[in-house]
Amino acid sequence: MAIREILIWPDPQLLKVSKPIVLNADGSVPDDVKVLVKDLFDTMYDADGVGLAAPQVGVLQRVVVVDIRAYESNDEGNRAEIPSGDPPIALLNPVFSDKSGKLEWEEGCLSVPNETGLVTRAARCRVDYVDLDGKPQTIEAEGLKSVALQHECDHLEGKLFVDYLSPLKRSVIKRKMLKLKAQRDDDEG
Ligand code: NI
Repeated sequence: MAIREILIWPDPQLLKVSKPIVLNADGSVPDDVKVLVKDLFDTMYDADGVGLAAPQVGVLQRVVVVDIRAYESNDEGNRAEIPSGDPPIALLNPVFSDKSGKLEWEEGCLSVPNETGLVTRAARCRVDYVDLDGKPQTIEAEGLKSVALQHECDHLEGKLFVDYLSPLKRSVIKRKMLKLKAQRDDDEG
């Protein structure tokens, strides 16, 4: 289990566009990408998030992981075992092939700790992606899962939820994050 450091906005790495994953000649997923996916899950679970994108750990590759079960977990923060199964998912090179409807959600982000903001997203979406076997797949989502997929894929374009907020709210959050970063740097000596 490897937990990577989550970058805090406005770290410059978070503002860059990530590069597509290139599969091996035999169509399989490179080992370093598989390790990255595992680390993203470990890091996301450690931080109690519902999603994480590779650029958030400083890797500019088009990889995101989503597991909305954290949101449905109980008060102790335990991940509920949801029998109907909305399994954790890793998406390589995700591309939206459809979006419809509108949904407002009070979003947060592991790169913007303790802050939230109201963002309007598509209520439903369809995403084409490559799975960990190197196979093309399509997923359809609505509600929180739709929101999470759009939020995480935004990270691959160097975009965060704060970019949807008013300039005032954004600058207030930015000041708090710069303070938080300075505190962390101090703590690390
Ligand atoms: Ni985020």
